[in-house]
Amino acid sequence: MRKILAPSILAADFWNLGEEVQKITDCGAKWLHVDVMDGMFVPNLSVGVPVVETMRKHSSLFFDVHLMIEDPIRYIRVFSDAGADSITFHLEAAPDPSAVIDLIRACGKRVGISVKPGTPADAVYPYLEKTDMVLVMTVEPGFGGQAFRDDMLPKIRAIRERADALGLETDIQVDGGINTGTAKQVLLAGANVLVAGSTVFHGDIGSNINAFKEILCN
Ligand code: DX5
Ligand code: ZN
Repeated sequence: MRKILAPSILAADFWNLGEEVQKITDCGAKWLHVDVMDGMFVPNLSVGVPVVETMRKHSSLFFDVHLMIEDPIRYIRVFSDAGADSITFHLEAAPDPSAVIDLIRACGKRVGISVKPGTPADAVYPYLEKTDMVLVMTVEPGFGGQAFRDDMLPKIRAIRERADALGLETDIQVDGGINTGTAKQVLLAGANVLVAGSTVFHGDIGSNINAFKEILCN
């Protein structure tokens, strides 16, 4: 199964956002994780449509948009038009998850479903066959730089086992507190897409990405 690093721009230097995106590209990153927050689903605000649109004009990275917003169906089309390649929404925020999945699919984008730490693995099972990626949050969503929750490892394992049993090649993404140490644990548990914010953008981006590459190649 492919293994991917998805640097999260939440931890980037926004003063130099273009340069930061260029740097991770030059260092071999293929994905860019974009955290969208509405101050309602999570107690924080972040970037939105104009930032995605602007980056799309200058970057051919795979844009992995993580919507931490209430009633996400309202914004699927705009983020699709803005240049998202994959759109992940929170199961807890969607009154009708199937309708959101169908709309993302109709827009021609990859579908991701995310669950907060308190939401059990089996909540995503009814949607697994219609979903490309499940995002298991390994912190409470809303802020970067939090400590990894190792009590999420059984959830990752359970979802991987369920996907395997159904013969699905579902990507399992983790987000929150991922460093080279926790990366090894989540890979062993069955995750294959790692979001990392502070551990990519803080310090030397080149050596940070290289450290992740070593783990992802083994
Ligand atoms: C948290 C966001 C994350 C965040 C991760 O709500 O979804 O993507 O950027 O940050 P780190 O990697 O610093 O924990
Ligand atoms: Zn995220």
